[in-house]
Amino acid sequence: MSDRDPAIAADWARSRQDMAHATLRRMVDLVAAKQTDRAEGPLPLHKGVYVDEARFAAERAHLFLGQPMVAGLSGDIANAGDVLVFDAAGPSILVQRGKDGVARAFLNMCTHRGAKLIEENEPWSGHRARVVCPFHAWTFDSSGTLIGQPSKQSFAGCDIGARNLVELPCAEHLGLIFVRPGGGAPIDAAAHLGSFADVLAALELHRAQPVKKGVLTAESNWKFALDTYSEGYHFAALHASTIGQTHYNDTAAIARFGRHHRINFPDKSVGALVGGDEVDWPATDYGGVHYLFPNTVIFFGAVTPGVFFTQVFRLFPDGVGKTRCQFAVYAPFGIESDAHQAMCEMAYDATAEVVQTEDYRVASAGYANLCAAPDDFHVVLGANEAAVQFVQINIAEAIGMPLK
Ligand code: FES
Ligand SMILES: [Fe+2]
Repeated sequence: MSDRDPAIAADWARSRQDMAHATLRRMVDLVAAKQTDRAEGPLPLHKGVYVDEARFAAERAHLFLGQPMVAGLSGDIANAGDVLVFDAAGPSILVQRGKDGVARAFLNMCTHRGAKLIEENEPWSGHRARVVCPFHAWTFDSSGTLIGQPSKQSFAGCDIGARNLVELPCAEHLGLIFVRPGGGAPIDAAAHLGSFADVLAALELHRAQPVKKGVLTAESNWKFALDTYSEGYHFAALHASTIGQTHYNDTAAIARFGRHHRINFPDKSVGALVGGDEVDWPATDYGGVHYLFPNTVIFFGAVTPGVFFTQVFRLFPDGVGKTRCQFAVYAPFGIESDAHQAMCEMAYDATAEVVQTEDYRVASAGYANLCAAPDDFHVVLGANEAAVQFVQINIAEAIGMPLK
């Protein structure tokens, strides 16, 4: 089912309220008990999980080329002819919405002599009724069909039908556009999301309108950077002046959905609800950190009560020791006003600053340490870093190099 199918029009605001209440109940219980969701025990990880080149090659092949990758949200290419460049997973790829409304992915490669059709890099997006190659002006329509060839007679006898753009598996579901960058089997997005689809549907990602995009970088293995999104154990120490002020440290409610998960970190207002009657709880806005296996984190939350934003972090390796995070902020239900747009831009700037100068700073220096550490050195993930454990275990299994 396409996310554009009106059949999915449900009362999503109500669904979010219900989810908000359920997650709040869980967070109140954890705060009352001074507890956090835990794994069975600590998990030591050999440093090779982060620095080993062979493991990295397996991740590139099995995950970044082989798995469905989020290339963007539906709103990034809202109209027919809109196109985005997705080059972070490896090959440069175009994702374009055709006249029929279908999003398709193609190698960003001309079928004449291989030139790059759109020369910009991610996160570029724009509109092209037709894509014209900069080299000799071969021209393709928005469904990848070759429609123009200067000096056509020079290619007489050449099977022009075989010169359409090289298409890759692409699927649009619940406002997410997935591409399998290495080619291969069609994408079954519903199967990929499994039961997580019920949560993601309530975010109404198909309505999200892009506000601001950019690239964050870490001199670190991509998994080391990714780990920072899955625990709140570091809030008080690393984010002492920001989220460490506003949220409980080392307190996380984790809900697992196959290889995906959601985490809720209670803010300090939750403490006031402990011991109170649930019927007196104030109405709460839904929020949460949604992890989509293997490399995407979607934070949905309120800037101020009732005013939401959606933040999408897509982490990609740029070699074993470099991370490029494609970071984008969206207005979840469209940009309502200039003030709303400004608030969403502020959400981008403030988050980018913290992630770049705090989380990725630590990731970069930690990665350098791991590279130089003794051969038998292991990091250790605590039971309280349960979601980080799940991420690492699932990645290791997916590449066929289990941790134990
Ligand atoms: S390489 Fe594109 S037209 Fe020649
Ligand atoms: Fe952090």
